[in-house]
Amino acid sequence: LRHLLSIEGLRERDLLQILDTTESFLSIAQRTVKKTPTLRGRTLVNLFFENSTRTRSTFELAAKRLSADVLNISASQSSTTKGESLLDTVDNLMAMQVDGFIVRHPEAGAAHLLARHLGERALVVNAGDGQHAHPTQALLDVFTIRRLAGPVEQQVVCILGDVLHSRVARALIHALSILGCPEIRVLGPRTLVPPEFASLGVQVHHDPRAALPGASIVYALRLQRERMESHRLPSLDEFHRRFGLTPERLALAAPGALVLHPGPINRGVEIASTVVDGPQSVVLAQVEHGLAVRMAVLSLLAGVPGHED
Ligand code: CP
Repeated sequence: LRHLLSIEGLRERDLLQILDTTESFLSIAQRTVKKTPTLRGRTLVNLFFENSTRTRSTFELAAKRLSADVLNISASQSSTTKGESLLDTVDNLMAMQVDGFIVRHPEAGAAHLLARHLGERALVVNAGDGQHAHPTQALLDVFTIRRLAGPVEQQVVCILGDVLHSRVARALIHALSILGCPEIRVLGPRTLVPPEFASLGVQVHHDPRAALPGASIVYALRLQRERMESHRLPSLDEFHRRFGLTPERLALAAPGALVLHPGPINRGVEIASTVVDGPQSVVLAQVEHGLAVRMAVLSLLAGVPGHED
């Protein structure tokens, strides 16, 4: 693999290789080992045309803990604000002899465009493109499920919230399906969870009392108001009342079900604060695992296998 653009199209063995390599980097994410020289002498560019806290920071830290040099470029501070195109920006950075790009962009397909343009000359990781894909998020999610709940083949997963606008949900559904998850449910209002999702092999639900019983993983998603047409925007209070993950709703799920959320969280909307901060929540473990997953992805794409303590 030279680029990681989406989960769709990957084989089970590709996912397992990344997840197994992630295990080898966990000690560095957890700082029992400080750094590894895996990517010494390489330069990676974090090229972000959309805001990010978790993805951008963990890619930067991942690259640094692999001993790579990192350039951070955000659209608002780059010459793209003066009309320079994405490909011209990349060509100029390539003239500085960089080795790879981690790209987030509001347009679906931006990372694919970059990968086609660069070919074998540099690695490309899609860090989120529009509503389309967010492969490293799905990888850190399935890593978290596998590590904290057990084999993916034994889980019943309920994804709750704004599924329609969510690249995270699409990527996660693909990853869970490839890894043999027997039951994936999506839950939300009809405007945000349309029946077409059934074509992805998931159960579509509009009633928490039907969707939550037996779920071992409950995955909450925020309302992506920035991507919504105005007629789809529900009232936040009403959304919380009908679908928000409250302690009472979580009690419908399997005992000890894990609660995941990709962040950013809107407390009191898709999820109650007491659930975010409660004993079943693993949202911060997801972030820690994200660092290890991104180290694994960067090292594998650079052609360097895992780390040994
Ligand atoms: N989960 C996620 O992509 O978060 P950020 O937007 O903060 O990177």
